[in-house]
Amino acid sequence: MSAGHGDRPAPPSGERSHAIESVLVENRTFDPPAELSAHAQVASLADYEALYARAARDPEGFWAEQASELHWATPWTAVMQGGFPTRATDPAPRWFVGGTLNASVSCLDRHAAGPRANKAALMFEGEPGDTRVLTYAQLHREVCRAANALTGLGIRAGDFVAIYMPMVPEAAIAMLACARIGAPHTVVFGGFSSEALSDRIKDCKAKLVITADGGWRRGQIVPLKANVDQAVAGSTVEKVLVLKRCANEVAWSERDVWWHDVVATASPKHTPAAFDSEHPLFTLYTSGSTGKPKGIVHTTGGYLTNAHYTTKLVFDLKDRDVFWCTADIGWVTGHSYVVYGPLAAGATVLLYEGAPNQPGPDRFWDIVARWGVTILYTAPTAIRAFMRWGDEHPAKHDLSSLRLLGSVGEPINPEAWMWYRTTIGGDRCPIVDTWWQTETGSIMISPLPGATPTKPGSATRPLPGVAAEIVHKDGTVCGPNQGGFLVVRAPWPGMLRTIAGDHERFVATYFSEVAGCYFAGDGARKDSDGYVWVMGRVDDVINVAGHRLSTMEVESALVSHPKVAEAAVVGRPDELKGQAIVAFVTPKLGVTADDALATELRAHVATQIGALARPEEIRFAEALPKTRSGKIMRRLLREVASGSTARGDTTTLEDQGVLESLAQSFSADD
Ligand code: WT7
Repeated sequence: MSAGHGDRPAPPSGERSHAIESVLVENRTFDPPAELSAHAQVASLADYEALYARAARDPEGFWAEQASELHWATPWTAVMQGGFPTRATDPAPRWFVGGTLNASVSCLDRHAAGPRANKAALMFEGEPGDTRVLTYAQLHREVCRAANALTGLGIRAGDFVAIYMPMVPEAAIAMLACARIGAPHTVVFGGFSSEALSDRIKDCKAKLVITADGGWRRGQIVPLKANVDQAVAGSTVEKVLVLKRCANEVAWSERDVWWHDVVATASPKHTPAAFDSEHPLFTLYTSGSTGKPKGIVHTTGGYLTNAHYTTKLVFDLKDRDVFWCTADIGWVTGHSYVVYGPLAAGATVLLYEGAPNQPGPDRFWDIVARWGVTILYTAPTAIRAFMRWGDEHPAKHDLSSLRLLGSVGEPINPEAWMWYRTTIGGDRCPIVDTWWQTETGSIMISPLPGATPTKPGSATRPLPGVAAEIVHKDGTVCGPNQGGFLVVRAPWPGMLRTIAGDHERFVATYFSEVAGCYFAGDGARKDSDGYVWVMGRVDDVINVAGHRLSTMEVESALVSHPKVAEAAVVGRPDELKGQAIVAFVTPKLGVTADDALATELRAHVATQIGALARPEEIRFAEALPKTRSGKIMRRLLREVASGSTARGDTTTLEDQGVLESLAQSFSADD
């Protein structure tokens, strides 16, 4: 394993002037706008530094203060217990020990009982254009109904509920209803296939699935219920709760229950129980460097404290904001910044169901203008798509309501950053480039909009309370601009507690690479101002359009096809998606490697995992480059895939002829 750029393909030489331009842009800094700073929670770099130092001096006091902004039924007796695990059986640190709370009370009841009762909590727009607004009082009632309905369906605290829903208010209602009765949820992105859904349902032994007949995507209906029908066969699932969204034809069986039959008719009154701070709130699956997705386990008190704290601080949230995080609830960004963070903070959240180019490429800008969005939080891959679609689309709409922009999911290239700032932000809105992960639960490294001067492409500095550092393998801190591993050197409340069913993997993955540290799996450097530049994954994880995929996962999907003997999957740089998937495939003897096979294999991966994992390109090869000990040389494949000739060390390569034939092999996708 090696860190950072050394292990990644260099840009093709034709892009040199492009690279020089990047360096020039990278060196520019943008100060926070004075009027924003004037009213910001943290108003200057000096204030940020003081807050950071304070949190570092007294982490427990600092986090206790953040936690006390939630509603607790019983106060904790110790802020933190334990530390990072070192042995396979060591537990994760515990936060707010002895404290009890109900996450949905912090997100709903306390707002519904106060001056925010009639403030919009959710503002929803469906892809076909239907809209709905739910105030805090209304959302509270809907969540109470859903909680009563879930109890009626036999769900008790500790039972797992899988949620496979479109981006509609009921998705958030379902999550909060689960939280309310202490049933951990596992949300599965609606773009995942029934196979992927089935794996997740089986892994967490879900008792109930909440889904919809379908969801709208680019004018088409995504057949969610049909996928669930396939996924639940032979599983632990007892009931399937189905929202009618698209009114498409669905098959019906005894275990199926309509949402409008049991939720709409349930009582809007519900007395919540309080759960232990360490009670699991949800498990969210994400790809690791093996073929099996990891169930990342988050708890109630620590996770919610962190989500609430970062929402308020990073977005400098004001009561009048209209907060739009465009992530799907199937990803952690949707958990922390569509549902738990903003609702705990009493914000108004915008929810949009569909695609950004439906009916036209200006849909987002139309939404911003019509709903008066003030904070927009989206992904670099989307920003690059908007750039490509053309400036005339945002230009058609009044974007003056925007006051703050955010980016998440992958490193943002300076060109996209500048375009975002100028064309969307009118040179007026600061950009917060936020680094974090499913495992961290919430934002870890980010500018504070009123305090931190920004540099295009840098996530800038760690938040107060976050001991992020760039280190060598032996744990010593890297010098300025030295590439190294991004680690966190002290526990934080929102960190994952385990990998569901595999605590050993949890300790091995995150706490064994660099002694005494949480290992994030990213390479990064710090510049001479202490600004962090994240360079990307250092493991076999690729980031496609801001979504994490493991090369092994795609490889196992490929080799599960009867015509495939062997497969190796790598990422290559992609202008739009950040990275694109290239698969090198050796077909079984006697199988013809042609376009038809490539199409068949791409479709096969989509059924096994989901469309997001479909390889961009498939290259057939009679053999894959291997070391003498039989290990596939992925570094060489990455170089071949990105169009450069293999430059690295090939002395351990078993068969030199393999490389030549790979470089010549055709791209079946063209
Ligand atoms: C990986 C985590 C956390 C929300 C969405 C993705 C990459 C994320 C940034 C950023 C550079 C970033 C990292 C990280 N990443 N945000 N601002 N700059 N890289 O969550 O699927 O858990 O993926 O996304 O490589 O490890 P995730």
